[in-house]
Amino acid sequence: MMAIKTVNALSHYTDWTVGHVHSGALGWVAMVSIGSLYHLVPVLFGHGRMYSTSLVNVHFWLATIGTVLYIVSMWISGVMQGLMWRAVNSDGTLTYSFVESLEASYPFYFVRFLGGCFFLTGMLIMAYNVLRTVKAPKESLPALAEA
Ligand code: HEM
Ligand code: HEM
Repeated sequence: MMAIKTVNALSHYTDWTVGHVHSGALGWVAMVSIGSLYHLVPVLFGHGRMYSTSLVNVHFWLATIGTVLYIVSMWISGVMQGLMWRAVNSDGTLTYSFVESLEASYPFYFVRFLGGCFFLTGMLIMAYNVLRTVKAPKESLPALAEA
């Protein structure tokens, strides 16, 4: 969408770009990295699986909800900022000051903060799960199919 000239004319400089960045950063880069760690940690420490598979699922949903809250709030605030910055009065002067558009963005920053809290909680759960896996006695975590 942002590679389309008429869309970019609205989205450029706004939070839309920040939302786009984090759909890649959280939804792709972070998720792929986290998934690869969930595979590698048991292998590296000689176990068949992670200490808790349910906690892995909980982490997946916390990360997904956090990412969606981040992206959706930035899409809405981005479109709002773009529309406020381009609005002009009949005499050609700007309808809104920059600070007015910033004030209007605060509720969306709060939703982004909530998204970040979801994502961070998921990472803390992962840290606990990794610690329990590393510390588990050998042979105590067989692969799921064998369990
Ligand atoms: C088909 C896929 C994609 C398309 C068409 C696309 C397109 C764009 C466009 C047009 C911009 C410029 C927006 C602006 O400045 O107004 C942009 C910025 C950006 N994109 Fe993407 N993007 C894609 C995928 C991704 C992915 C997967 C990631 C991250 C993993 C990513 C990371 C970024 C970043 C970091 C910026 C900001 C760059 C800066 O401001 O210097 N993009 N993208
Ligand atoms: C929940 C986790 C995260 C939160 C809450 C967060 C928050 C933020 C915030 C508030 C900004 C500044 C946006 C602005 O200029 O208004 C930012 C920028 C940025 N973050 Fe994140 N971030 C997170 C994770 C990540 C990750 C995992 C990556 C990379 C893999 C990343 C890459 C970036 C990049 C490239 C920018 C610059 C965006 C731009 O200016 O176009 N972030 N982040």
